[in-house]
Amino acid sequence: MSQAAFKAEQALGHGDNAATVQDITNPSQHEGAGDPNVKMKALAWMGKNKVEMIETQKPVIMEPRDVILKITGSTVCGSDLHLLHGTVVELQKGDILGHEFCGIVDEVGSEVTKLKKGQRVVASFQIACGDCYYCKQKLSSQCERTNANTLENGMYGGRTAGMFGYSHFTGGFAGGQSEYTRVPFGDVNLLPLPDDVPDEKGLYLSDVLATSWHCVVDTGVKKGDVVAIWGAGPIGQMAADFSLMNGASRVIMIDSNWRVDYVKEKYPHIETIDFSKLGKDSVTSKLKEMCGGRGPDVCLECAAGEYAKGWAHTVEMALGLETDTSEIVNEMITSARNFGSCGITGVYVGFTNHFNIGSLMERGIRLIGNGQAPVHLYWESLLKMVQEGKIDPLKMVSHRVRLEDLDKVYYQFEKKADGMQKVFAETKFSAPACEGSPSLTTY
Ligand SMILES: NC(=O)c1ccc[n+]([C@@H]2O[C@H](COP(=O)([O-])OP(=O)(O)OC[C@H]3O[C@@H](n4cnc5c(N)ncnc54)[C@H](O)[C@@H]3O)[C@@H](O)[C@H]2O)c1
Ligand SMILES: [Zn+2]
Ligand SMILES: [Zn+2]
Repeated sequence: MSQAAFKAEQALGHGDNAATVQDITNPSQHEGAGDPNVKMKALAWMGKNKVEMIETQKPVIMEPRDVILKITGSTVCGSDLHLLHGTVVELQKGDILGHEFCGIVDEVGSEVTKLKKGQRVVASFQIACGDCYYCKQKLSSQCERTNANTLENGMYGGRTAGMFGYSHFTGGFAGGQSEYTRVPFGDVNLLPLPDDVPDEKGLYLSDVLATSWHCVVDTGVKKGDVVAIWGAGPIGQMAADFSLMNGASRVIMIDSNWRVDYVKEKYPHIETIDFSKLGKDSVTSKLKEMCGGRGPDVCLECAAGEYAKGWAHTVEMALGLETDTSEIVNEMITSARNFGSCGITGVYVGFTNHFNIGSLMERGIRLIGNGQAPVHLYWESLLKMVQEGKIDPLKMVSHRVRLEDLDKVYYQFEKKADGMQKVFAETKFSAPACEGSPSLTTY
């Protein structure tokens, strides 16, 4: 279905809004995109539930504002699982994945003014032009000039920015789970890392830190609020920390596996609900009980729409009657206190059934789509907080792995095996591990 959607979109044709070349997802597969004399390793999508390490060509400068980045760190995101599963459409075999990465500037195009060869930088997961209506407000995830995809435009009534390693649905850009990546509008999409911020901390400015911060402030956590968070993965954990930093009086996290224990150990001040152990209780009734009968002030969705709980949504999704389950969103709506707020940061792709619009309307619930997070709006201030030690990204990092093993790491991450959550993937160009980094695990 993912590949068929790409064919359909090709038939429709791209829009004419993009200011950078589209659909360069693997330098070997496009004329003029790679250097035939230099090979590199990369992780590629090879079909539903299948990723492989491949050898391909090193990317070359294609446009004057391009930067070629030598990758020194990347990771796997919960969002990559939606690609692995084929939930996000328009992938092609051989597409290089990875939207969170940092590295060293290797080559600059003739119009790059702010960066020099040898500089350490982190990339934002979205590709922004820096000049359009949204970019001028730093709402970089909604850049109007980096994604010409007509299917996304038609389905959503507007489109997001282009994204690294995130299918042709978002422009078709090769990702950073590789040894080199081409970064369009390099001056805009790369943030220099100071010497006191090692890669193992700077990397996460690409996505997870900005996303979690955005989830909290965009949904509107205020002083004294009780916040409930669905999904205790890296995004949920950072959102919990950031809720407290933004004044929340209590945070309650909901999940169903060892991550609940991880949270209990690492974040002792955070309360948890393991929904697999609730018996006759529902998440909503448990939250009402924990929150004076009324429910939390703010609910944050940090899980995803592809994770159906009951058989009804499992069947409907399997039959293509809906693309996403409404179960978590309904739980948030019914759990929140009247006039409370609910924010959706976990990925939802299309349409859902049995949405509890009645509760939403009658009880005045403010349901907010947080969108793909605008990294550029936050990454400078978040970097400062990392420098000052106010944020410790290593708290959520469970493993240090090698790029060469990333295909195996995907399946471990998917199964949440070996206590795996956020990883740091090193390459042959990486510096020795910084203090506090987990030691290397090979697969
Ligand atoms: N909006 C954005 O800009 C943005 C950026 C990055 C990631 N994301 C999304 O955020 C979500 C979380 O990312 P992550 O890296 O932490 O992913 P993850 O897969 O590591 O964690 C998701 C967690 O949700 C839990 N979960 C599943 N069903 C649940 C349910 N019914 N109730 C409670 N918990 C449930 C899982 O057990 C898992 O621990 C993903 O959907 C990811 O795609 C969004
Ligand atoms: Zn991500
Ligand atoms: Zn723009």
